[in-house]
Order: sequence, then structure tokens, then C-alpha cells
Amino acid sequence: MIEAIEYLRARIPAAPRTAVVLGSGLGAFADTVDGGLSIAYQDIPGWPRSTAVGHAGKLVFGTLGGVPIAVMSGRAHLYEGHSMEKVVFGVRALGRLGARSMVFTNAAGGINLAYGQGSLVLISDHINLQGANPLAGPNDDSLGPRFPDMSDAYDAGFRALAKEAGRRLGVELPEGVYAGLTGPSYETPAEIRYLRAIGADLVGMSTVPEVIAARHMGVRCLAISCVTNMAAGILPQKIDHQEVLETGARVRGTLVALLGAVVPALED
Ligand code: HPA
Repeated sequence: MIEAIEYLRARIPAAPRTAVVLGSGLGAFADTVDGGLSIAYQDIPGWPRSTAVGHAGKLVFGTLGGVPIAVMSGRAHLYEGHSMEKVVFGVRALGRLGARSMVFTNAAGGINLAYGQGSLVLISDHINLQGANPLAGPNDDSLGPRFPDMSDAYDAGFRALAKEAGRRLGVELPEGVYAGLTGPSYETPAEIRYLRAIGADLVGMSTVPEVIAARHMGVRCLAISCVTNMAAGILPQKIDHQEVLETGARVRGTLVALLGAVVPALED
């Protein structure tokens, strides 16, 4: 971690105030950063490689609306075989570099029938079903407390800002609870009925550990899911990763516009 931070500090023009993590098929935003300095994950000591299809594997530093930001285009997932420590490596490194707010995007299956394919949804809360927690093990007191509160994990003020930006752009932004599973198999229809019964509106394979690690550090979080498909068993069709990427590509412009409006407004 120290090596990665020193490597980045020696190269970046300014400490990022906000970090943005881009999910499957949602990497286009990275190209909109002004004066972007792009660094491949493989060049940063200890940074986990992103092997998932649809993930670029680069870190971009620059400004947006004058605010210094960092963009992680591609993330590490448990299903790739990464440890929890590696899954949250980027969040911790960017938090250590100075990011006080973070925006997470992901592709998710829609469980709530009010959503449609391509809907963007603000995550209001999560259910951790990954069977692990990135904070397990000795606590690093320099990062945060042993038992961090998670009652406002998804910042209500940030959600209000996102909704306001959505209204200006004509983008409806419902809220929902995200269930994080490990994958990589998609869920069975029975699992989706179970997830609906326990209060989940969305299902995906990321974000939850990152938000836990970010909140541990006191970083405020906004998370936006792109409903790339309706969850298993809802429609009489199979779920396929290609469709996930295609839906991501279809909403690319809307998501880029939304992030462009919201990210500079997130400052403290
Ligand atoms: N389930 C889990 N993760 C996902 C899905 C899904 O249906 N779609 C995109 N990511």
C-alpha cells in the first residue's frame, strides 16, 4: 500500500478530492476527465489487476469542473479470486491520497419490478451477502475504528444532490437496496425470490466491500447501479454477460452526463 501511494504521489498533479469507481461496461466517464493522467493498474505496485471483461484497468487523475478527482476504470472483484484486501486496495489507496468522497457505479440485476432494463438507481443501503468483510482481521486504527457505524453508508445528502442533477437532466433516479453476492454465477430464480423477501431491490457482485472500506475511513459514498438486466426468473430469458455490457453501453451517455453534473458538486 505504501509503495502504491508513494508511486502515485510522485506522479499525480493534485491530490484527488473525490474518487469515482466505474463498473462493468461503464468506463466511458474516464475519458471526460480534464487533463487526465492515465496510469495502468499493472504499473502501480501492489494494485490488483482487473481481469473482468468490460473493465479497462486504469486509474485516471484530472479535474472535473475544476475539482481534482481520481477515476478507477475497472475494479477487483472477489469472483476473480482476489482477497478482500485486494478488493478494497484502490479505495484505501485513494482515501489515503486524500479523497473524502467516492462515487461507485456498478452493473446490477433488477429485482424491484418498478425498474426497467437500463434504469439508473441510487443505492440507499446494502445487504452484505459476500460471506466476508474487508475489515476482518487486525484493525488499522490509522484508517478508522474497529466497529464502524454503517447506518448512513450511502450519504443522504449526496443522494439528494444526485436527484437534483437527475431532474435537471431529465433522468429519473429511484432508490433501492443493493444485495452484494460474490458471483460469478448469476443467481437462481429461487435466490432472487429470497433476495426480494429480505428487502433487496438490486443484486450485484461488487461495491459492498468498497463502501464498507470507504465508510471505515469516514469517506462519504454515493453509489449508482445501472440495471443491465432484470434479475433471474423475472423475465423468461437467460442472463448473459454480453447483455450486461450492451445495456451499460446504451446508458453510457446518460451516466456520463449524470456523473459530470454530480461529481463536482460532491465536495464536502
Ligand atoms: N446478478 C448479479 N450481478 C449482476 C447482474 C445480475 O443479474 N447483472 C449485472 N450484474
